[in-house]
Amino acid sequence: MTFDLFDDLPPSGPATPAVEPLADGAVVLRGVARPDAEVLVADVQAVIATAPWRHMVTPGGLQMSVAMTNCGAVGWVSDARGYRYDPIDPLSANPWPEMPASFRQLATTAAAQAGFAGFEPDACLINRYAPGTRLSLHQDRDERDYGAPIVSVSLGLPAVFLFGGMRRADKPQRVRLAHGDVVVWGGPSRLAFHGVAPLADGDHPLLGQLRINLTFRKAL
Ligand code: SIN
Ligand code: FE2
Repeated sequence: MTFDLFDDLPPSGPATPAVEPLADGAVVLRGVARPDAEVLVADVQAVIATAPWRHMVTPGGLQMSVAMTNCGAVGWVSDARGYRYDPIDPLSANPWPEMPASFRQLATTAAAQAGFAGFEPDACLINRYAPGTRLSLHQDRDERDYGAPIVSVSLGLPAVFLFGGMRRADKPQRVRLAHGDVVVWGGPSRLAFHGVAPLADGDHPLLGQLRINLTFRKAL
């Protein structure tokens, strides 16, 4: 019998994932997206064929270093007018691509594993990080319903996720997120400040020099 160190997850994913508490209402689910990663990446490619990557501009006029796109009934948009959810992709003037079934299923399952049963996302923001790219501390507060959690899926290169408190000045925890890890925050942590430290160089077998993050929200 051979013993494979990397053979620790069944093909269907962990039936009971390792749930790592971050804060009240916030957990990391290690590796839960790993079995679906190739399908998720193929579905990202399909989304960007219709709604390509773009660098949005903040209301203050700065271009974001993270490249973004969306799928779902509405997409998160930033421009000179502010932040909002919009059913129309401003680049194409068409609706955003539908949320792939693989995305929806993963988001709902992960939310339930984190204690948020019945999560039905209507928006998925897709973020692309290259080495050096960072995302500064912010709250996700453009959604109408803070009763639903945020579900965040990491693919490709590892990152250091910054998970702070309710005030911008609260010192954030530094959490290493690897390919397939999922973070869920809701309830008392729903408006926690969070961000991503500058991405380190690396080469990932599936995504090369990139990290892709999917964040699922109930926006409407
Ligand atoms: C986000 O806050 O929208 C993205 C977080 C991440 O990339 O891990
Ligand atoms: Fe966020």
